[in-house]
Amino acid sequence: MRKNIVAGNWKMNTTLPEGQQLAKDVCQAVAEQDNLKCDVVLGVPFTHLCAVKAIIGDKLHLAAQNCADHDHGAYTGEVSAPMVASTGADYVILGHSERRGYYNETIETLRTKVDLALAAGLNVIFCCGESLEQRRAGTHFDIIRDEIVGSLFHLTPEQFTHIVIAYEPIWAIGTGETATAEQAQEIHAFIRQLLTSQYGNTLADDTTILYGGSCKPSNAAELFALPDIDGGLIGGASLKAADFLGIITAF
Ligand code: PGA
Repeated sequence: MRKNIVAGNWKMNTTLPEGQQLAKDVCQAVAEQDNLKCDVVLGVPFTHLCAVKAIIGDKLHLAAQNCADHDHGAYTGEVSAPMVASTGADYVILGHSERRGYYNETIETLRTKVDLALAAGLNVIFCCGESLEQRRAGTHFDIIRDEIVGSLFHLTPEQFTHIVIAYEPIWAIGTGETATAEQAQEIHAFIRQLLTSQYGNTLADDTTILYGGSCKPSNAAELFALPDIDGGLIGGASLKAADFLGIITAF
């Protein structure tokens, strides 16, 4: 059975004290729910990992938003997957469109990062998604296939059980524009079909596929009710505990 997951992606927001307060607020709000239907992951800046781990313990899951494409060594300013894992984080978000777009992360770089993350014992939330131009040109299926096949399909089935996929149409990120339920379900079903062709039915069926892009309390329930949408990767709405809780409880 696949897991439902709601993951927050704080991006480059909150100072350490603000992040600690937000983590406390989310933790407390989640603790007050007696019938939680999903795992909750907080994707926080590197600088916050240890402090947030101390607050959330094992009640929530913890993610970094990136890791280096090398294991260790003379790479000034980088943070490796083993370093992330050593903070108590159990996830890393890889391939976010902001990383691909602003920091030139390629399919090949991401394949290396995925390998290093898995070797360090981390689970990976792997993001994919098309731009508005690509959707208008009708190439969105090809883009998503290339991103997934190129960075993930060398993995063994056992390794793949540590992968969560997040479909994030770039045109919906931070724009207030959400994919319609039909658009999102269509891509999620396509991704699951792709996984079936490579890894078979059972593994495809067990893989969590998240939707991301202007997901908020008012649209989460409709999205999460769809057969192939197993939760969300939440940017803006994860920065307010009340909004994030509204999404967590949308199942
Ligand atoms: P958003 O961001 O919810 O602010 O649109 C989602 C993401 O980039 O992960």
